[in-house]
Amino acid sequence: MAPDADTDAGADRFVRVADLDALADRGTAVVSEDGQAIALFHHEGEVYAVDNRCPHMGFPLTRGSVEDGVLTCHWHHARFELEEGDTFDIWADDVQTFPVEVRDGAVYLDPDPEPDGEGGGGTGRGRPRVPR
Ligand code: FES
Repeated sequence: MAPDADTDAGADRFVRVADLDALADRGTAVVSEDGQAIALFHHEGEVYAVDNRCPHMGFPLTRGSVEDGVLTCHWHHARFELEEGDTFDIWADDVQTFPVEVRDGAVYLDPDPEPDGEGGGGTGRGRPRVPR
């Protein structure tokens, strides 16, 4: 039986976007993939990626703050669960998250994740793990 070309399609979409040590030092970074600005966060030993535009009114989320896994936008203080992108505030939409992998000291992400079918929020792919 011939290999199914779709089987590994998800793995092939990951692109290298940052050096892990540099991200850990700065805590956050903005990368551009497929014309969209994506915010990276190194928080409590793990890496997360979300759309850098706040879904409320577009403020850059890398200028927000993260505490206990909650990302807070500093314009109107919308709060988002960093891992899945779900908002805690009914007046803001969920923020798009992107699957992340760490390979050989570099951060990779999938810039075109499959929609979760619930309005553009998180991808539901689980927490990216950073090897020690
Ligand atoms: S723009 Fe982020 S809360 Fe309003």
